[in-house]
Amino acid sequence: MPGIVQTSKPCKAPPVVGPRTTKARRPIVDIPEFMINEARSTSVDKWDPSKHMAFKAPAAIYTMKEIGLEGQGISPHAVSEPFPLFTREAIMQMRREIFSDLVMKNCRFGSDFIANMVRGMGAERAPFIYDAWYDPAILAAISAVAGVDLIPAFDYEVANVNISINDEKAEVLTGSDEESAVAWHYDSFPFVCVTMASDCTGMVGGETAIKLPDGSEKKVRGPAMGTAVVMQGRYINHRAMKAFGGRERIALVTAFRPRNPLVRDETILTGVRPISHLEELYSQYVAYRFDVLEERFRHKLKEERRRVVMKRSINIGDLRSFIEDQQNYLASMLEELYEVE
Ligand SMILES: [Fe+2]
Repeated sequence: MPGIVQTSKPCKAPPVVGPRTTKARRPIVDIPEFMINEARSTSVDKWDPSKHMAFKAPAAIYTMKEIGLEGQGISPHAVSEPFPLFTREAIMQMRREIFSDLVMKNCRFGSDFIANMVRGMGAERAPFIYDAWYDPAILAAISAVAGVDLIPAFDYEVANVNISINDEKAEVLTGSDEESAVAWHYDSFPFVCVTMASDCTGMVGGETAIKLPDGSEKKVRGPAMGTAVVMQGRYINHRAMKAFGGRERIALVTAFRPRNPLVRDETILTGVRPISHLEELYSQYVAYRFDVLEERFRHKLKEERRRVVMKRSINIGDLRSFIEDQQNYLASMLEELYEVE
């Protein structure tokens, strides 16, 4: 395992504004019967990367330096152009699971930010989707684009599915305006991978806009069916532009954190607490955080024992800095874990 990655103290990730709604609620919108039937008509197949993965490196990856954020975040990469990730067959399998009876009954959420979501499907209800996102080949591809080794943040975020159906009766969302579907924000997770699971023929808009230091915006094309965009959303102020045309827009947003437990991890739950079953969300959050802490302490202990064997003198500054980092990590957990009335 490599040594502590950060050498100097990086600036803290920005605060995140979450939905106004504090408790999970069911979406108001109905999903049309024909979409459900269409998805369920796909015959069941198992995830097979040789058949279902279609990765090709993106034409461009914009760097943090290029968008004026050099040295921030956990990777020099900011955001990619859309790149092929899944075959059409893979997307059909994913849609089959998203619109399955069990998922529709148990995993639908709505908030004032995004009216209609499917989340926390779990490996039992969505084995294809879980196998896909935990496949080492997919993770290697996402990590290469991200410029840092990543793993899914935790199971609950595999995968957040945003569903928007072309409907003039659609709810008006907080922060949405003539241009934005989702207002300016930072994500709660270090990286996200947004994968399109709809046919985007005839669709316009739907880009991700990034705020540049001079106040201007850079727009990155939204993904088309089976393609994905990877973005360091925890550190980049961004918004989703409205998409027009097309029958529906189904995007899988999978959240990632660094695989190496020694890398800074500023994951928070602000954005997801109001759209999750807290029992599951909190359990998974605590488990991964304890795991990270355990790994960090084991690593540090090994280093310390080695130092004593080698008769090197104690580095109090280094030890204090390690303890402070863990104290901050624990303090952030206290900020995240609370009862929601
Ligand atoms: Fe975002």
